[in-house]
Amino acid sequence: MDECTQPVTASRRQCSVEVLSQVVLLVVVVHRFTSGDRRRWARPVLGEALIASPLIRTWPQDADSAQIGHGGSGITLVREQLFLRALRKAADKRRAEQIMRIAVAGATGNIGSLTVATLERAGHDVVRISRSLGVDLQTGDGLGAALTGVEAVIDTTSTNAVDRGEAIAYFAATTSNLLAAEAGAGVSHHVLLSIVGLDRVEGNAHMVGKREQERLVIEGRVPWTIVPATQFHDFAAAVTAWTEQDGVAMIPPLLVQPIAPADVADVLAEIAVGPPLGRHPDVAGPEPQDLVDMARRTNDARGHKVKLVPTWSSLLGVDMAGNVLLPGEGARIAPTTFDAWLAQQR
Ligand SMILES: NC(=O)c1ccc[n+]([C@@H]2O[C@H](COP(=O)([O-])OP(=O)(O)OC[C@H]3O[C@@H](n4cnc5c(N)ncnc54)[C@H](OP(=O)(O)O)[C@@H]3O)[C@@H](O)[C@H]2O)c1
Repeated sequence: MDECTQPVTASRRQCSVEVLSQVVLLVVVVHRFTSGDRRRWARPVLGEALIASPLIRTWPQDADSAQIGHGGSGITLVREQLFLRALRKAADKRRAEQIMRIAVAGATGNIGSLTVATLERAGHDVVRISRSLGVDLQTGDGLGAALTGVEAVIDTTSTNAVDRGEAIAYFAATTSNLLAAEAGAGVSHHVLLSIVGLDRVEGNAHMVGKREQERLVIEGRVPWTIVPATQFHDFAAAVTAWTEQDGVAMIPPLLVQPIAPADVADVLAEIAVGPPLGRHPDVAGPEPQDLVDMARRTNDARGHKVKLVPTWSSLLGVDMAGNVLLPGEGARIAPTTFDAWLAQQR
C-alpha cells in the first residue's frame, strides 16, 4: 500500500497536496509553453496530453471525499474543471480549425465583401452570391448550383427600396428562395444580418422589410442565427448620398452607437462556423454618436463639400428618435471606435 492509498494521515494529506501542486505546475507549464504562435498547434496537443496523463486519470478517488485542506468537494471540483476545460478547449480548437464551405449572399456588398475576406483569411471555402456574379435571389436563378456542398449561409443582401410594399416583396422573395434552396442542399446554419431595434420602428420601409425577413427565417426549416447590428460607421455617409441634392443633404439627428463594417464581418464569420444560436444579442460599436456630427466629420475627412440640414422630414422619420436604435442589455460591443475608423477615411 503506497502513501496515497492509505487512510487519511498526515503523510497522505501531504501526498495529496503534492499531487495537486504537480497538476497546477503542469497547467502553468502548458500555459507558458504555448505562448505566441506555438499556442496555435501546441495547446490542444498538450491539453489532450493533460487529460490522458496518469496524474489526472489516477487521482485517488477516495482523496476527493477525504477531508483534505478545504474539504474533498473542492479537490473534486478542481479535477473536474481541469478535465472539462481541457476537453472543451481541444474540441473548440478542432472546430475552429475545420475548413468549411460557406456561402455569402450579398458577397459584393459593403459587409458581404468584408465577410468573404475574413472567411478566406481563415482558410474557408467561400461561395459568393450576388446578381453581378450570376445568382439572383429574387428569381432563384443559379441558386441551386451555388449551394452544392455548402454547410452555412450568411445573408448580407440589401435593397434600396423606399416603398413599404417593394421592400417587403424584395425581402420575402430573396429570403424564401434562399431558405428553400438551403433546405434542399442540406445547409445546416443560416446566419442573417439584421438591425437593432427593428420592432421599435414602425414607419421605415427597410425596417418593415427586415421584419418580414426575420419572420421567414424564424419560421423556416433551416437552423438559424439572427445577428442584430447597429448602424455602421459609414451610415452617415450613406444617408448623405441618399439625400444630397444641389450640394445640400438632409440628415436626421439620430442617436446611434455605430459599428465598424469590418467588426460586423468578423462577428458574422465567427458565428457561421459555430452552431445555430437563435437570436444573438445585439452587436454594437463602443460609443454613442449623433448622426449629423458623424456626417459632418465623415464628409470633412473625405473632402466632400456639402451643406447638412438636420431634419426629421427626409427618409428617416421621428419614430427613430430617442434610444430606439441603441443596443439592448447584454449587447456584444465591438472594439473599433468611430474616430479610429474615421482616421482611415482621410
Ligand atoms: N447600413 C447599416 O447601417 C446597417 C445596419 C445594420 C444592418 N444592416 C443590414 O446589413 C445588410 C447588408 O447591408 P450592406 O450595406 O452591406 O448592403 P449593400 O452594400 O447594399 O450590399 C448588398 C448586396 O446584396 C446583393 N444583392 C442585392 N439584391 C440581390 C439579389 N436579388 N440577389 C443576389 N444578391 C443581391 C448586392 O449585389 P448585386 O447588386 O450584385 O446583386 C450586394 O452584394 C442589409 O440587410 C442591412 O439591412 C445595415
